[in-house]
Amino acid sequence: MIQKVEITIDGKTVELPVLEATEGTNVVDVRGLIAEGIYTFDPGFLSTASCESRITYIDGDKGILMYRGYPIEELAENSSHMEVCYLLLCGELPDQAQLSEFVQDIKSRMPVDDQFKHIFDAFSESAHPMSMLCAAVGGLASLYHDGLDIFNAQHRRESALQLIAKIPTLAAMTYRKTIGAKFIDPDPELEYAENFLNMCFGEPGVSSNVSATLASAMDKIFILHADHEQNASTSTVRLAGSTEADPYAAIAAGVAALWGPSHGGANEAVLKMLAEIGDESRVQEFIDRAKDKDDPFKLMGFGHRVYKNFDPRATVMQASCHAVLEEQGIEDEPLLKIAKQLETIAREQDYFIDRKLYPNIDFYSGITLKAMGIPTNMFTVIFAMGRMPGWVAHWDEMLGSPFKIGRPRQLYLGPSKRDYVDINDR
Ligand code: SDX
Repeated sequence: MIQKVEITIDGKTVELPVLEATEGTNVVDVRGLIAEGIYTFDPGFLSTASCESRITYIDGDKGILMYRGYPIEELAENSSHMEVCYLLLCGELPDQAQLSEFVQDIKSRMPVDDQFKHIFDAFSESAHPMSMLCAAVGGLASLYHDGLDIFNAQHRRESALQLIAKIPTLAAMTYRKTIGAKFIDPDPELEYAENFLNMCFGEPGVSSNVSATLASAMDKIFILHADHEQNASTSTVRLAGSTEADPYAAIAAGVAALWGPSHGGANEAVLKMLAEIGDESRVQEFIDRAKDKDDPFKLMGFGHRVYKNFDPRATVMQASCHAVLEEQGIEDEPLLKIAKQLETIAREQDYFIDRKLYPNIDFYSGITLKAMGIPTNMFTVIFAMGRMPGWVAHWDEMLGSPFKIGRPRQLYLGPSKRDYVDINDR
């Protein structure tokens, strides 16, 4: 039986249906309000569902994250990023033949056109890698826009393959640009994560010497970051895509949104914060600042719009962090000691307990990436690499069904109608 809710305004009652979810919270379908001239008000969309989706489910209270119904812990333990990309895009885990074909489809699209590489000539070596990645991803539209029919499922699949394939090559190029080094082309003999690390840290013409542990840790980082419902950058991709914009441009908008320190830029901000704290003896000072309403400082890597429990990705990330530190022989990583002290103290204090502020994925991903020798300004680039399959899966899901251009309304609080005043009379 479909439930209904009633809203009564100015003596008029409007009946609204409740739409049932297969998992989690049902939603009140407020689309009928516009006919009655009524808007809802929800800045930041804290209680607003923007779409239907079958891709990822989060239960923030229970700390649950599932891609197409598979728990993130099981995928992180047993799967690979390529398999997760297939799962997010196609909805089912691939059999061996499907996975082999998909991996080959990606590998064959990893090389970047030589002419296109000159886009990096426009950047200085001091440019932030995310500024270069925004431009490079959007620039792919210059190669693939002509003849692209976004309403053709095969064309959408090709765009998805191109974006998942090109992002590690472009990401590595942003890093090589910052160190003034020659670009290294993708090696078709290497798997995705190892290929990326080799394109960053390898030698042109020399076989990869990337350690299996680091490649495995990077692959796991990609899996953990692959999708996360309607987060800010994915919602940006959907909004840009809803105008029927070119997919490379829509994804570039997602890259831009991810860069903010409140979102994907938090992993870089966590490292900067830990370095600023500098010593375990100063942890309480920063926790006090985080609690001070007059101080804009927030504890980077803590809190989440949805998780009001441990971020399940942070738990997996924490374990991976220890494995990488051990492999690298970094026993007493000072930043890790500060991080653990911060986590212990924060979680004992009412301010954080009352607001259900727990460490999120960014709290440990930054330390892991640092232990892997990844420079801090590349952390969000790696987040973008991981998130790429999620972005393209949501774009494809939206385009694959009837949709409307996104166009929120507003609560107007500006001046009422007034007449123009000549400048001589002001
Ligand atoms: C990601 O959406 C996603 O799914 C994102 C993501 C993904 O995979 O796509 O999970 C990735 O972006 C993770 C979040 C990374 N960001 C950070 O770690 C930055 C620090 N965190 C905060 O900026 C904040 O927690 C947000 C932005 C993540 C969430 O903010 P909300 O949901 O808008 O929460 P809020 O600002 O309304 O905070 C509620 C209360 C406030 O205090 P009161 O006004 O109630 O007294 O909690 C406080 C906030 O001041 N608070 C914090 C805090 N986060 C929230 N106080 C100190 N430090 C913090 N980190």
